[in-house]
Amino acid sequence: MAYRIAVLPGDGIGTEVVPQAIRVLDKIAEKYGHQFEYKQGLIGGAAIDATGHPLPEETLGLCYNSDAVLLGAIGGPKWDNLPTHLRPEVGALLPLRKELGLYANIRPCRMYSALADASTLKKEVLEGTDMVVIRELTGGMYFGPKGRETVDGVERAWDTMLYSTPEIERIVRLAFEAARKRTRKEVCSVDKANVLEASRLWRETAIRVAADYPDVTLTHMYVDNAAMQLVRNPRQFDVVVTENTFGDILTDQASMLSASLGMLPSASIGGNVALYEPAHGSAPDIAGQKKANPLATILSAAMMLEYSFNLVTEARAIEDAVEKVLSKGFRTGDIMEAGKILVNTEEMTDRVLEELA
Ligand code: NAD
Ligand code: IPM
Ligand code: MN
Repeated sequence: MAYRIAVLPGDGIGTEVVPQAIRVLDKIAEKYGHQFEYKQGLIGGAAIDATGHPLPEETLGLCYNSDAVLLGAIGGPKWDNLPTHLRPEVGALLPLRKELGLYANIRPCRMYSALADASTLKKEVLEGTDMVVIRELTGGMYFGPKGRETVDGVERAWDTMLYSTPEIERIVRLAFEAARKRTRKEVCSVDKANVLEASRLWRETAIRVAADYPDVTLTHMYVDNAAMQLVRNPRQFDVVVTENTFGDILTDQASMLSASLGMLPSASIGGNVALYEPAHGSAPDIAGQKKANPLATILSAAMMLEYSFNLVTEARAIEDAVEKVLSKGFRTGDIMEAGKILVNTEEMTDRVLEELA
C-alpha cells in the first residue's frame, strides 16, 4: 500500500527543511519496505507569486486527496503588506487548517539530554521535562468576528475570542484521552478565566468533561502564571490544553525546553487528513543560508508516521536517530555550543540517515 503525502514546502526555510524530511521518509521506506507517494503543492508566498492566491484550489484538492500533509512554513517580508485576506498566514494557513477540520494541534515539548547545555535554561530546571501542549487550532481570536473602522476620525480594530461549548469540549476531551495514555495522567487547562468570558466557559466545560475521566487529574492555571511556570519549573507539566492564541505563544516559549524552536515538531489533527509541520516559521533571517535546523520537520514526519499511518516502530526509529545524532555532538547553529560540531541543514540530515542505515 502506498501512503499519499501532500508536500507543501511553502516559503523561506520551509523550502530547505521539507526536502530533508523527505530524505528521511525515503530512508524509512527503503528500510521498512513502505511506499510513500509525494505530490508537491503551492502554498503561501510561493503560491501568491505563481497564482496570485496563497491557497490555490488545487492545493486544497491535493490535501483532501492525500493520506497526510507535510508542510514547511509560510510567510515572509515580501508578502507582509498585502491585504489581510491575501497574506500567507490568514489567506492560506488558517483556512487550510479550518477546511481540513484540524482543531487540535499537538506540540510535544521535551528535553533532550544531549541538549541540556545548549538551552538558555539551566540543566537542573530542564531535567526530566516531558510535556505536550494541545492547542485548540480552529477557534478563538484567529477565527472570531473581526473588523476595522474609523469612528469620529479615530481608527480602531478588533479580533474576538469566541468559543462554543462543542469546540471546547472536543479539544478538552482530546487532551484527556492523550493524558490517559501517559504515565502521569495529568491535564493542566490554561486560561484567563479571571478576566475573559470565553475562558470562563472554557473552564466550566473542562470541569464538566473531567467527570468522564476520573483516572485523569485536572488542574487549571491562568495563562500569565503558566508562562512563568514554564521557565520556573517545566517538569510540573504533563498535558497542557489551551486555546488557540495562548497555545501559539506558550509553545514558542516551551520550544526552549528542547533548546530551540528548530526542535519543535507538531501534528494538527481532528479531520480526515492530518497536517504535520514544524512549529517554527519561515525564518527570513536565516533563509537561503543552509543554517536551518531540519530536526523539527524531521520529527514532524515521525509524528506523521505514528499518527496518520500507525507506523510506530518507524516513528521511534527516527526519534532515536535524532537523539543519537545529538549525543554525537552534531549541531546546527541554533543549538550550537562550544566543543560541538557545526553542521548545515543537509549535513544534519546526512547524520540522521547514517543512524537509520
Ligand atoms: P520564525 O519561527 O520564522 O523565526 C523565529 C526565530 O527562530 C528566528 O530567529 C529564526 O531564525 C529562528 N528559527 C526558526 N526556525 C528555525 C530553525 N528551523 N532553525 C534555526 N533557527 C530557526 O518566526 P518569525 O520570524 O516571527 O516569523 C517569520 C515568518 O514566518 C512570518 O511571516 C510569520 O508569519 C511566519 N510564520 C509561519 C509559521 C508557519 O508557517 N507555521 C509559523 C510561525 C511564523
Ligand atoms: C504557528 C504560526 C501560525 C499560528 C501563524 C503563521 C498563522 O505562528 O503555526 O504557530 O499562529 O498558528
Ligand atoms: Mn506560532
